[in-house]
Amino acid sequence: MKFIIIFSTLIVMLLAFQNCSPEHKAGTLPSQSELAQVSDEAKNILINKCMGCHGPGDNVVITPDLEALNESGLIVRGEPQNSTLYLQVIDRIMPPSGSGVTLSDNEIEVIRKWIKGPTALNYVEHIRPILETSCNTCHGGGGRRLTTYDDLLRNNRIVPGDLEASTLWQAVISTEEGVRMPPQGKSLSSEDLQIISDWITSGAQEFE
Ligand code: HEC
Ligand code: HEC
Repeated sequence: MKFIIIFSTLIVMLLAFQNCSPEHKAGTLPSQSELAQVSDEAKNILINKCMGCHGPGDNVVITPDLEALNESGLIVRGEPQNSTLYLQVIDRIMPPSGSGVTLSDNEIEVIRKWIKGPTALNYVEHIRPILETSCNTCHGGGGRRLTTYDDLLRNNRIVPGDLEASTLWQAVISTEEGVRMPPQGKSLSSEDLQIISDWITSGAQEFE
């Protein structure tokens, strides 16, 4: 009995540990090829699932062309939450129920990403997730807190536009014991470093 308890405790610990895996996609930006793929998929969805009813001559004309949809007011480029077309599909009003045409959650997400387009690097979407994963176990509170945008701007940790002067940047690229961050274990991935450096260089915006 005792053995079973110890054994299952070990399994539970193992599973919990797996959840803390350092692999994460949080800070990842969509690449050019991903954006191109989203665009192709979105166009196919509109052609196959909307244009049967919303072809030329309908009250609501849908074409697989972002610019045309933007001009006709069915979408607001970059703002899915303000786009009639997106609101109709996310609220499951379109395609009409009973029409035999349905959209999967994934197809709705593709439409959202297509309208959203490339997003500019910003603290909320791209930097905070990296810090949450790799830094906040130690920098979650006290004088070394790094959980808000203002924390980053304090003490020259981040100097917008100036990598050299940004002590946070110097810490994550340092190899010097006592300076390098995180102090033990793996350094940030080259992908995360690229995102942080591009973000600081481009002015370290808080939001998009
Ligand atoms: C089976 C036919 C049918 C399909 C499929 C369909 N719609 Fe519609 N849609 C309608 C009808 C009917 C209306 C009411 C307005 C009209 O066209 O006269 C409408 C209205 C709309 C409106 C205008 C809503 C408003 O209040 O201004 C939007 C936007 C829209 N549809 C988007 C879509 C999108 C996006 C798809 C594909 C994901 C889609 N529809 C698929 C029949 C359809
Ligand atoms: C294991 C705990 C731990 C982790 C994880 C960690 N740090 Fe630190 N960090 C520290 C400690 C402790 C110090 C103080 C070192 C000293 O003053 O000698 C420090 C100091 C710093 C400093 C300089 C002091 C300050 O408050 O500005 C920066 C910048 C920093 N860390 C950034 C980071 C970043 C960015 C990450 C994640 C990539 C990170 N740290 C991950 C423990 C940690």
